[in-house]
Amino acid sequence: EPLLQNTLKRAVAKRAVELVKPGMVIGLGTGSTASLAIEELGKLIQQGKLKDVVGVGTSYQSRVLARQFGVKTVDLNDVIHIDIAFDGADEVDPSMNILKGGGAAHTMGKVIDTMAKKSVILVDQSKVVFELGQIFPVPVEVLPPAISPVLRQLVALGGVPEIRSALRKDGPVITDFGNMVVDVSFPEGIKDPAALEKRIKLIPGVVENGLVTGVASSVLVATQDGDDITIV
Ligand code: A5P
Repeated sequence: EPLLQNTLKRAVAKRAVELVKPGMVIGLGTGSTASLAIEELGKLIQQGKLKDVVGVGTSYQSRVLARQFGVKTVDLNDVIHIDIAFDGADEVDPSMNILKGGGAAHTMGKVIDTMAKKSVILVDQSKVVFELGQIFPVPVEVLPPAISPVLRQLVALGGVPEIRSALRKDGPVITDFGNMVVDVSFPEGIKDPAALEKRIKLIPGVVENGLVTGVASSVLVATQDGDDITIV
């Protein structure tokens, strides 16, 4: 990964955790950017600057990192609210619609981001797009016994679905919940992400898809500006 991109991710993570106040319940997202936010949050907690902050993990990855960096986690079902959820994204459009799921962790990410009073999305400049889905396909988490009918329904929606295979395992990627992931590209484009999100969601056997519309309350974008990094 380019050094600059890493620097941008770190910068946005640092800015994000400045929003946290003592006593807050924080949603801990998944992916390389959200991981840096967990690390930065851990630093503030270890320094004694944030008392009584707890996290709610969106994945095994986020819970493991939380433990590693000293962020106490609680079960989602043991909290009645989340103050701020931090999460990464694969693409963000100008209306703050998000495409997630590059790391196959979008299902719980959506639950937690939707539940949070503030859903803060952390990205570097490379994630900002004019229209979602031009570069990244839409990840769909699918109940394994329903895979064939779901694939047919996705084709009927104009999609080109491909079961995601694992890098270091023969066979499909299996999510934290034992499901498969289908990456669906839409050659005709995604003109109405909110409508497509709902249509995919309504296919029986689909657990969740990576389109997240109307949920983000803010998007922090780290941009390189000459030698400076700006976050807007
Ligand atoms: C998790 O499945 C994804 O939605 C991540 O939020 C997304 O892939 C962003 O990851 P990076 O911060 O590593 O780009």
